[in-house]
Amino acid sequence: MIRMTTRRMLRALPVLAHDMPSFDPSDVPAEPTALFADWLAAAVDAGVDEPHAMTVSTVDADGAPDARVLILKDLDSAGWHFASSSASAKGRQLARNPRTALSFHWREQGRQVRVRGTARPADPAVSRQDFLARPEGSRIATLAGRQSAVLTDRAELDRELAEVRARLAADPDLVADTHTVYVVAPETVEFWQADRERRHVRLRYRRGAAGWAREQLWP
Ligand SMILES: Cc1cc2nc3c(=O)[nH]c(=O)nc-3n(C[C@H](O)[C@H](O)[C@H](O)COP(=O)(O)O)c2cc1C
Repeated sequence: MIRMTTRRMLRALPVLAHDMPSFDPSDVPAEPTALFADWLAAAVDAGVDEPHAMTVSTVDADGAPDARVLILKDLDSAGWHFASSSASAKGRQLARNPRTALSFHWREQGRQVRVRGTARPADPAVSRQDFLARPEGSRIATLAGRQSAVLTDRAELDRELAEVRARLAADPDLVADTHTVYVVAPETVEFWQADRERRHVRLRYRRGAAGWAREQLWP
């Protein structure tokens, strides 16, 4: 009964039915990072909610995929940056296998960007700086953190947070040595623009020996 109701509800939901921008794949920069920066700025201008939230996919030791939402912290010629704990599930997965996929979905614009590449830790000085620039609450959470470990008692978390808050007050320059900025160097980047008539535009950049090649894909 519940399943039928859910199914009916899902099928009544509209998808890609609103006004969306157009995208001319013949008029794009040579570098995918430049086009991404343009699209990100357009998403911010259009009021897209949390346009810097992305799904980061990794694989575990058995080759099983894993995915979670993270915040994009920077974009430069080296690639897409995010920050997390090297001791977390994803941190351990990346240490074994750095191959990573990122996906962005900007619903209001009917846009999706998919990045596939390799995530490597940035220079430790970069991670340190990133940590020190975070709000106090985030620093406390990370310093107290055993991200992705099993939590059996929430009181333990509260005790740890209170203890770290006191330590940080005494030493404001404390840095969590597990806090790591990862940089995803892209191998392929796909820009997907929805079309209400389902003539979606897909443009893929592929890194080759001679630089970036571009190709369109069937929707
Ligand atoms: C909007 C949003 C933003 C998030 N940003 C981060 C982030 O920047 N870094 C981070 O480590 N976790 C972030 N998280 C939590 C992760 O999704 C995830 O729960 C956590 O990193 C543990 O993942 P893991 O067990 O795969 O290592 C965010 C979650 C959401 C919903």
